[in-house]
Amino acid sequence: MKLAIIGAGNVGETLGTAWAEKAGHEIFFGVRNPQSDKVQALMRSLGGKARAGTAAEAAAFADIIVLATPWNSAEAAIRSMGDVSGKIILDATNPLAMGSDGLGLEIGHDTSAAEKVQGWAEGAAVFKTLNTTGYGNMADPVFHGVKSVMFVAGDDAAGKPKVIALVAALGFEVIDAGPLRNARLLEAHAMLWIELALKRGLGRDFAFAILRR
Ligand SMILES: NC(=O)c1ccc[n+]([C@@H]2O[C@H](COP(=O)([O-])OP(=O)(O)OC[C@H]3O[C@@H](n4cnc5c(N)ncnc54)[C@H](OP(=O)(O)O)[C@@H]3O)[C@@H](O)[C@H]2O)c1
Repeated sequence: MKLAIIGAGNVGETLGTAWAEKAGHEIFFGVRNPQSDKVQALMRSLGGKARAGTAAEAAAFADIIVLATPWNSAEAAIRSMGDVSGKIILDATNPLAMGSDGLGLEIGHDTSAAEKVQGWAEGAAVFKTLNTTGYGNMADPVFHGVKSVMFVAGDDAAGKPKVIALVAALGFEVIDAGPLRNARLLEAHAMLWIELALKRGLGRDFAFAILRR
């Protein structure tokens, strides 16, 4: 599968590496400076399995695009992709901002980052996923034989099985969390992971899982 990853930071690098190495997908990183030392080092580490260029080049190449930029760059990153109609977009962002109580969600309850992304990405099918755990867990989602959970929320019924398969290839148990508006729940869930990891002493090496009777 041809994948574009917009942003080659913690999340983008981890996902691109995992999909290239575990699933053999073709990766095109859309970055602001393809010649930077960091991006060039990533290209070398992935051998011929990935390339890097502008966000517009990456988006034109791919069927599925992953948005992995900070929230405050998300709108600019989407606009820089050009025409994304007919594409699937996986939105991994969380709308984080510093407030009077410290790091928190900038929006929520009555909308979500994913719904904003859908508004900017005209004609694309946006899914919220890959936002509710740390990037280290995206590289290694299995804990003592138990798969940690990753949710997928989105409205496009035709695209959803492709997204679920892509996320499952990383090693997660994937749960369909319903329509895109449920991104409001997933972004709050991500904030819980961040709170526990960074402020409540759990650290980054824990994840949520689904248990069944
Ligand atoms: N870190 C986590 O564990 C984690 C987990 C789940 C979700 N998330 C979410 O995932 C997103 C990325 O997090 P991260 O930790 O990977 O951040 P990061 O390490 O800071 O990386 C963000 C990347 O986005 C790039 N970028 C910024 N604006 C861009 C634009 N307009 N076009 C293309 N690339 C652009 C930056 O590149 P340059 O500045 O070098 O150009 C940088 O490489 C955030 O929204 C975060 O909330 C993070």
